[in-house]
Amino acid sequence: MRYYDKLIFELSREGRTGYSLRRNEWTESSASLPAALLREEAPALPQVSEVDVVRHYTNLSQMNFGVDTGFYPLGSCTMKYNPKINEEIAAMPGFQGLHPLQPAATVQGALAVYEGLDKALAAITGMARFTFAPCAGAHGELTGLMIMRRYHQLRGDVKRTKVIVPDSAHGTNPASAAVCGLEVVVVKSNADGLVDVNDLRPLLGDDIAGIMMTNPNTLGLFEKDILEIAQLVHGCGGLLYYDGANMNPLLGVVRPGDMGFDILHLNLHKTFSTPHGGGGPGSGPVGVCERLVSCLPVPRVERGSDGLLQVCGRPGTSGCADSAGQVSGFMGNFGVMLRAYAYILMLGRQHIRFAGKYATLAANYIKESLKDCYKLPIAGLCKHEFVYDGLVDDGSRKDADGHVVREGATTLDVAKRLLDFGFHAPTIYFPLLFHQAIMIEPTETESKETLDAFIEAMRAIAAEAAEDPAILKGAPHAAPISRPDETTAARRPILKYQDECLSQ
Ligand SMILES: Cc1ncc(COP(=O)(O)O)c(C=O)c1O
Repeated sequence: MRYYDKLIFELSREGRTGYSLRRNEWTESSASLPAALLREEAPALPQVSEVDVVRHYTNLSQMNFGVDTGFYPLGSCTMKYNPKINEEIAAMPGFQGLHPLQPAATVQGALAVYEGLDKALAAITGMARFTFAPCAGAHGELTGLMIMRRYHQLRGDVKRTKVIVPDSAHGTNPASAAVCGLEVVVVKSNADGLVDVNDLRPLLGDDIAGIMMTNPNTLGLFEKDILEIAQLVHGCGGLLYYDGANMNPLLGVVRPGDMGFDILHLNLHKTFSTPHGGGGPGSGPVGVCERLVSCLPVPRVERGSDGLLQVCGRPGTSGCADSAGQVSGFMGNFGVMLRAYAYILMLGRQHIRFAGKYATLAANYIKESLKDCYKLPIAGLCKHEFVYDGLVDDGSRKDADGHVVREGATTLDVAKRLLDFGFHAPTIYFPLLFHQAIMIEPTETESKETLDAFIEAMRAIAAEAAEDPAILKGAPHAAPISRPDETTAARRPILKYQDECLSQ
């Protein structure tokens, strides 16, 4: 163990401090606190010098992996580089010092960002208007489904309680439908990995509220039958919901509105280069077509007849009677919106269409380069991401009687070994359609040299697996933590220092 891998509590020495506060009336003010509120014993804080604190936090930060430290090909997540100008814009004092309850007349600039971003996203997606209230993709899904339900309710069409979801869908789709009180009906994929139109037809009826789809789907494949699907779903009185988490390859090229979608969410924290991972903050704005605008959540930003922007539909005010309701406090994560707006304006109409094209090129380049060592279940062109189904030769060996004499390497082992090569692992075991799924999404922001280095590492790992799968099974060998029990780590994390840790 390196000296600075020790816990900061282990570095603690009685009486050592990293600061010195001059004694004055404030430092002595505990005397005026009621005795019942005072601690009986001093808190067990580590006593360390300033340099120990600096090294503690710097070392902790280096134990993590982020887009700023290396290539992060996490499928279905669009971990693209987050340009630093986004941060500069979001940190401008005029934006940072705002309060959501300020009178509209004093925040016209901020409200203009809502209006501008609304227009930009409407132009990119072919929708009429957006709400920025949802704070994540899944939150956008729930909001979109609430809008869908409200639309049917307003028309007295209350029988529509079912939502069709493809078997390849991201797990949040059926979960959001269930949270919204809708029943999920699964439509199967065909052998090409696309929604099976023949399986869809018999599901359609007057109890269908709509269908949720992502296009390209979670296999990275473009749903080429989308126009027929839209016609069928609209024909039975249902609406089409577009899960825009996979919008990156379509940016500036194809618009979900033109494919027939009525409602969609975008993940600003994926497609529009705002930071994500670690739970947020995110932003999942929801866009709707013209006939659903009145159902958008409140509050909303509207331009009044005096030319000024105003916030309408705040609790306690009248109007917006058709609205699906309020889905978050105020109007969403403004800082995330600022970053996304900066990104869109920086690229402009002219250049934004290259993002998706380069992302698609990068994904196809990796897919084709490694298909001799990783099984490719669906051949042909993909969009921004694709899925392998494990190793071609996983190193497993059987004797003449067919008994396993050596266990082969799994997708989990490949993912763990990649960490030793300095790359973040791809998404694994998703989508559920394949047993050993490895889902890779390189994004457009990586150079060919980075892609080549990744390909080389994946090839080296495949060779190791064939020769000696034990190397992979013990990986990662170079990470601060090797293989935690993932369930316990997620369900029963120990997040604070406990004395027993030292004695163990
Ligand atoms: C296809 C798809 N839909 C929805 C989501 C949910 O988005 P969020 O994580 O922002 O809730 C994701 C996230 O990974 C996704 O990949």
